[in-house]
Amino acid sequence: MTEPLLSVKDLSVRFRLRGRSLHALRGVNLDILPGESLAIVGESGSGKSVLVKTFMGLSDKNGYIDDGQILYLGEDLAQYKTARQWKKIRGREIAMVMQDPMTALNPLKTIGAQIEEAILLRGDGKVSRSQARAESLTYLTDVGIDDPARRARQYPHEFSGGMRQRVVIAIAMACRPRLLICDEPTTALDVTIQAQILSLIKALKDKNGLTCVYITHDLGVVANVADRIAVMYAGEVVEVGTCEDIFYDPRHPYTWALLSSLPQLGIKGEPLYSIHGTPPNLFDEIKGDAFAPRNPKALRIDFEENPPYFDVSPTHRAKTWLLDPRAPRVEPPESVKKLQANWTKEA
Ligand SMILES: Nc1ncnc2c1ncn2[C@@H]1O[C@H](COP(=O)(O)OP(=O)(O)OP(=O)(O)O)[C@@H](O)[C@H]1O
Ligand SMILES: [Mg+2]
Repeated sequence: MTEPLLSVKDLSVRFRLRGRSLHALRGVNLDILPGESLAIVGESGSGKSVLVKTFMGLSDKNGYIDDGQILYLGEDLAQYKTARQWKKIRGREIAMVMQDPMTALNPLKTIGAQIEEAILLRGDGKVSRSQARAESLTYLTDVGIDDPARRARQYPHEFSGGMRQRVVIAIAMACRPRLLICDEPTTALDVTIQAQILSLIKALKDKNGLTCVYITHDLGVVANVADRIAVMYAGEVVEVGTCEDIFYDPRHPYTWALLSSLPQLGIKGEPLYSIHGTPPNLFDEIKGDAFAPRNPKALRIDFEENPPYFDVSPTHRAKTWLLDPRAPRVEPPESVKKLQANWTKEA
C-alpha cells in the first residue's frame, strides 16, 4: 500500500471545561493517502473539526493532546509546541477552508490585499509586491471570479456568501498547500451554490494534484467528492473504506443508521428515518462500544468492551464486535439493503 501523507495514531484530545475534562477524541486512527480525496462524516459533536484542527495546531486554548501521534513527512505534529514549528506547516503544507467564510476574511482589507499577503508569506521575501499582485489575479480567476482586477479592490462585504467562500479558497490555494482541508465549506450556502463550490474544489484538486480532506454531515454529497470515507462517532473513527465499501458493504451499525437517514430513502408522506437516542456525554468515561445504547441490535459485549478494528478487506475496516468471528450473524437493516438495490439499479 502507498505510504500515507498524514497518519493519525491513537490520537486523544481533551478539553478542560469548568473543572471537568471532556474527552473529544478517544483514540483516533486514520491515514490520509497522497493525492486522495477523503471525506469525514459523522453527526454533530463527533470530533471532526477537533481532529483536523490538530493538524494545524489550531486547537482551542483549553484543549490538549494527551496521547497519540500525527505523523506528517516524518515528523510528529502532536509534539509541536511553538509558533515557529507550526509556521512551516500552516498554509504551506496544510491549508483549511472553514464553514463560515466571513470569519476567515479580514473585513477591513481588500480581498486582493489578503491574497497578496498569502503569496508574500509563502514567498519568504523572494516574491516582490508587484509579482504578488499579478499572481493574486490568477488565483481569483482560478476560483471562477470574473473581472479579477476590479474584484481584487473590493472588500469582503461586497461579495455574496458563495463568492466569499471562493475568495477563501483562493487564499488557501495561494499558499500552495499539499493538503487542503475543507470543514463543511458549504453548509452556510444554498444548494446550487453548494454544488458549484464542491465542483470547484474538485477541479482545483485535480489541477494542482492536491490531497483533499472533506468534512460533511451529508453522506449524500460524499459519493461525488470522495475516494474514501471515514465515519466518526463519539471521538473515534468507527469505519473507513472506499466509497464503494461504505455505500455497498457497510459494516458498522452507526454507518447503517447514517445511510438509513439519507433523504433518498424517504417515502413520500412518511417521516424520514432518524437515529434514535443521543450521542454519549463525552465528560463521562465510556464503557464498551459508544454506539451500543443507540444500537437496537447491540450485543452484550458491546456494553462491556470497546471493540478493536476488524479488517473487512485491505481497503475497509470497522470497529464493531459484529465482525468478530464469534459474533452472531446480523444483517444490515432493510432500509440499507433497499438503498443498495436502488443504486445498483441506477448504475
Ligand atoms: N473548546 C472546547 N471546549 C470544550 N469542548 C469542546 C471545545 N471544542 C470542541 N469541544 C467538544 O468536542 C466535541 C467535538 O467537537 P467538534 O467541533 O469536533 O464536532 P464536529 O464533529 O465538528 O461537529 P459539527 O458537525 O457540529 O461541526 C464536542 O463534544 C464539542 O462540544
Ligand atoms: Mg465541526
